[in-house]
Amino acid sequence: MQAASQSRIKLLAISGSLRQTSSNTTLLRAVRLLTPEDVVVDIYAGLNQLPHFNPELEDAECAAVADYCNQLQQADGLIISSPEYAHGVPGVLKNALDWVVGSGELVGKPVALLNASPRATHALASLHETLTVMMAKIVEEASITIPLMGTKLDPAEIAAHPDFSAVLQIALTKLVQAIDSNK
Ligand SMILES: Cc1cc2nc3c(=O)[nH]c(=O)nc-3n(C[C@H](O)[C@H](O)[C@H](O)COP(=O)(O)O)c2cc1C
Repeated sequence: MQAASQSRIKLLAISGSLRQTSSNTTLLRAVRLLTPEDVVVDIYAGLNQLPHFNPELEDAECAAVADYCNQLQQADGLIISSPEYAHGVPGVLKNALDWVVGSGELVGKPVALLNASPRATHALASLHETLTVMMAKIVEEASITIPLMGTKLDPAEIAAHPDFSAVLQIALTKLVQAIDSNK
C-alpha cells in the first residue's frame, strides 16, 4: 500500500480492459510495484460505472463522471494500457475519453501509453490520435510495449523480471521527468 500523503507525484493508471485477469491491468499493477517512494499510482476502477457518453448529459449531475473527472484533475500524469478489439480501442475506454473532450481534464496532461501486446498496433495508433487531438501530452519515451501475451506473469513476477522491470522503470522515470518539466 502506497502512502499518498508522502507522494510528490500522483499518477492515475487506466486499463482499457474490464477482464478480471486482464494483462493490461496486470501490467499497471506491476508498474505500481516499481514506482519510486515519492510517486503514487492509483488504478482507476470506475471504467464500467461511466454512463454512455452523451453531450446532452455533460452538464447533468453524475457521481461516476464527477469522481472520474476529479481523479483526472488530481493526477499529475496518466498511464494508459489497453487491449485492442477488432483493430480498435475498447468501447469502454473510448467512452471514458469522450467524457473529458469538452471538460479538458487531459489538456497538457503527460500520458504514458503502455501496451501489453506487440500485435495491438491499431488500437495504440488510434489512442495516440485521440489523445493528441484532446491535447494530452503523450510522453513517447515513456510509452512502451511489454509482450505479456501468453506469459501468465503476475504483477510481482513482472516487477521481478529483469528485462520488463528495467524497461518499466525507465518509462516511469521518463514520465516523471516530463511531469517535472511540465510544472
Ligand atoms: C472481441 C475481441 C477482439 C479482439 N481483437 C483483437 C485485434 O483486433 N487485435 C489484437 O491484436 N488482439 C485482439 N484481441 C485480443 C486482445 O486484444 C488480447 O486478448 C488482449 O490481451 C486482451 O487484453 P486484456 O488481457 O488486458 O484483457 C481481441 C480480443 C477480443 C476478445
